[in-house]
Amino acid sequence: MEFGIKEVTPANIKTACVIACVFDSKSLDEVGKSLDAASDGHLSAALKGGALNDRPGATLMLFKAPGIVAERVLLLSLGKLKEFGVRQWQDAVGSAVAACKSASLSSATLCLPLAEANGLDTHGKLRLAVESAEAAIYSFNQFKSKQDDRKPPILKRLDYYLDAVLKDSGRQVAVTSARGAKGARRKDTFATAIEQGKAIGAGVALTRTLANLPSNVCTPTYLAQQASKMAKEQKLDCEILDKKDMEKLGMGSLLAVARGSHQPPKMIVLSYKGAGKQKPVVLVGKGVTFDSGGISLKPGNDMDEMKYDMSGAASVLGAMLATSLMRLPINLTVVVPATENMPGGNATRPGDIVSSMSGQTIEILNTDAEGRLILCDALTYAERFKPTVVIDVATLTGACLVALGQLPAGLFGTHDGLCENLLAAGEASGDRAWRLPLWPEYQEQLKSNFADMANISSGRWGGAITAAAFLARFTEKYNWAHLDIAGVAWKSGEQKGATGRPAPLLIYYLLTYSGLANKV
Ligand code: BES
Ligand code: MN
Ligand code: ZN
Repeated sequence: MEFGIKEVTPANIKTACVIACVFDSKSLDEVGKSLDAASDGHLSAALKGGALNDRPGATLMLFKAPGIVAERVLLLSLGKLKEFGVRQWQDAVGSAVAACKSASLSSATLCLPLAEANGLDTHGKLRLAVESAEAAIYSFNQFKSKQDDRKPPILKRLDYYLDAVLKDSGRQVAVTSARGAKGARRKDTFATAIEQGKAIGAGVALTRTLANLPSNVCTPTYLAQQASKMAKEQKLDCEILDKKDMEKLGMGSLLAVARGSHQPPKMIVLSYKGAGKQKPVVLVGKGVTFDSGGISLKPGNDMDEMKYDMSGAASVLGAMLATSLMRLPINLTVVVPATENMPGGNATRPGDIVSSMSGQTIEILNTDAEGRLILCDALTYAERFKPTVVIDVATLTGACLVALGQLPAGLFGTHDGLCENLLAAGEASGDRAWRLPLWPEYQEQLKSNFADMANISSGRWGGAITAAAFLARFTEKYNWAHLDIAGVAWKSGEQKGATGRPAPLLIYYLLTYSGLANKV
């Protein structure tokens, strides 16, 4: 989709649809009021009848309002002014785009609301609007055989009304000298917000597509190919470790998971350098391209959804794409251990003992707890980058769903500052996380009679925490946090599909890390 900025008076904008924002189901903002005045009260008359719901994202389409050049005016509810924030704005933009899509419009102009709420400034609102619009036109239809089912979205262009943008950010002075140096700089600022929004949108779309692909297409080898394609396009360093390399490195834990599959495992390493010799941030993503459970076979219900067990990998690759598109001044390395988890004559058995790259031995009591087995070797491997911070992302436990439901990702870590920054990035991106404890006492539950540790807890409770506690044993050499995304990476049922989470959280974290967020 194309994005731009419009500066003409809203009533005169040549666009298929001008979108005006409404708070509390009836109060138009400044821009809405000017449209209302131009059309002799047409808009406020429509609102008076109570036809617009005050749920953020409710819409009311008006046709041929007098005095307004655009054929349509879309009244967009932003909910209650008091409650307005990131997620309300995202929902509203998403449904405005959906309304334009279902009316088969090719272009629209969105007037940014003036309200500053919950730390959401103009730059942030613009960036979020672009991200949300990109997310709303996302489709995954490459496997539909009929042309009709594969039609690209008609909405090609979404503009933003600039005056609203300027008033909002208190930069009116710059407008009056529109042609001066200030004017030029101001435009760069908003162009940057749009560019960032597009980059984040592209990263999230990549995450969704990789996750949505079925496991017969998206194998470890396929993931490695996609990563090296991205490396070529974005000029990243790329290294793909194969089974032999893993054997040499002593990754006995990762290899134990891969044994049952005919698909060879891969370990993908991508590096982006935007900050010279600085130490990197390392993101590690679980890349189980299909999790059958292995010999500890999963029950059949919804087993197809285990194609999403590489969503962690997809999200760190999406974060890498966004980072390189934005040219963030940071160094970022992404590590993806990729494998299938399958039963078979050569598969790992419950009770088998393996030696991890760290030297610690693991008794594999349940082959379905495979995520931690591949992550532990990737986390040990990450030491070589001398990272400032390592964040791993994994669809790790069903127990995380039991604990937190499907709203936040589970966050674990012993570094309070890092955890706070990740929580803040979750709030700022609308892609939230919630912290759970990781006290040393939980380690008791991982005792094994025969090896250094077992791969599952001896007790029934706190499964998301004991999984994190297992990973903690491999991350003592650096600052580390873990995101369990089992509840948020995809939706089930009629709406089945990848959400792209937690790519937004990761990207906003990296934006803050780079010192760029809301500043440019
Ligand atoms: N990939 C699953 C976790 C999962 C399950 C995510 C359902 C989303 C929905 C993971 O590999 C797994 O199987 N975990 C086991 C661990 C258990 C055997 C200790 C689980 O959660 O049941
Ligand atoms: Mn499993
Ligand atoms: Zn799994």
